Amino acid sequence: MGYMSELESSSGERMDAKVPRTAKPGETLEVRYDLERVKREVSPRDIEQGPANLWRYAPLLPVQDAKHVISLNEGYTPLLQTPRLARKLGLKTLSVKDEGRNPSGTFKDRGASVAISRYAELGVRTVALNSSGNAAGSWSLYAARAGMTSVNVVPTDAQPSSLQQCRASGQPTFLLKNWHDAGRFVAEACECNGWLNICTLKEPYRLEGKKTMGLEIAEQLGWKMPDAVFYPAGGGLGAIAIWKAFDELLRLGWVKGKLPRLYVTQYEGCAPIVQAFEQKRAECSAWGKIDVPPGGLKSPNPPGGRGVLELIRKHGGGAIAVSASDAFAAVDELAREEGIFACPESATTLVGLTQAIARKWIKPLEHVVLVSTGSGLKSIPTLPEPRFPTISSSGEIRI
Ligand SMILES: Cc1ncc(COP(=O)(O)O)c(C=O)c1O
Repeated sequence: MGYMSELESSSGERMDAKVPRTAKPGETLEVRYDLERVKREVSPRDIEQGPANLWRYAPLLPVQDAKHVISLNEGYTPLLQTPRLARKLGLKTLSVKDEGRNPSGTFKDRGASVAISRYAELGVRTVALNSSGNAAGSWSLYAARAGMTSVNVVPTDAQPSSLQQCRASGQPTFLLKNWHDAGRFVAEACECNGWLNICTLKEPYRLEGKKTMGLEIAEQLGWKMPDAVFYPAGGGLGAIAIWKAFDELLRLGWVKGKLPRLYVTQYEGCAPIVQAFEQKRAECSAWGKIDVPPGGLKSPNPPGGRGVLELIRKHGGGAIAVSASDAFAAVDELAREEGIFACPESATTLVGLTQAIARKWIKPLEHVVLVSTGSGLKSIPTLPEPRFPTISSSGEIRI
């Protein structure tokens, strides 16, 4: 531990990382490491000997002293081969990064574990965020484990699974009807109460946690990068984080070659990144009426929109809007073909891949990774109701 050198803002300002910092309006903050020293002192073999969780990447994480780590054994999720789906789609290799295995059921645990650990180290007591549900559930559990407080603002239609995680862990949680105002509410509450605003891209450490998805994908492919990654984008933080990982690995010389192309998927009912991509704009405009199923991908003004569009421009890729009904059908397809029970947000990536293949954006020999950000268990009330026959005492079981 201890390779973090400083923080850098998107305007190039460098600052020490010894105190909690919030990004200035319109800017973002990123952690920088002394990668030359990491290169000299750490090797991919050392990483491979580490624990089977995201803390195996400790040299590339911001926590300075292992005693501050708050962990529920998150990360190091499997990168599952999906040969049946690949064959169906005419691809040689398709893999699914199964983030549903994380402790709270989604990839949000990565950002929560790393950022809460770092803030525990810096003596922060209370953080606040707006979340469409999954992050609130995750942060609540990790805050409880750390003895900290996570103040959560969630939409009125948040999934019961997430609300139960907030409730059971005893964290203060507020429901908000007009979701367009969520960021402003949290910012004002933080200002008044002296809480730390940990909303998407307001601070640098959630990104570091989510970055471990990219580190794992490369390690699990034998320190190689795939040709393309499909990611279900809400605020856009996860995609930006995965590419930060690839970039750091390239600088370390642990992987070689070109960074993958990025394809993001969004629901048709809230697709500001897709709209900007199709209109060839560098920035998203705020999305009007939100019409998406409960859960993630409810980000009408994505804080990472600009960053995601820049990654697509720089490395290739695209942004694809998906109907909710296609996403639900893809939940079933993932389960039926490969036994993977993903949430509908994650299943948008399979729909996006199918569309990308039809548009000839993907070549048959390319290695594609779908990021399945969460488990279907988080979305039970949203999925079609199971209808099975009841067996009477005299009934026969036949299929
Ligand atoms: C299951 C799920 N997938 C994807 C996302 C989008 O994540 P990001 O903000 O990194 O784009 C979210 C965010 O709420 C989510 O809960």
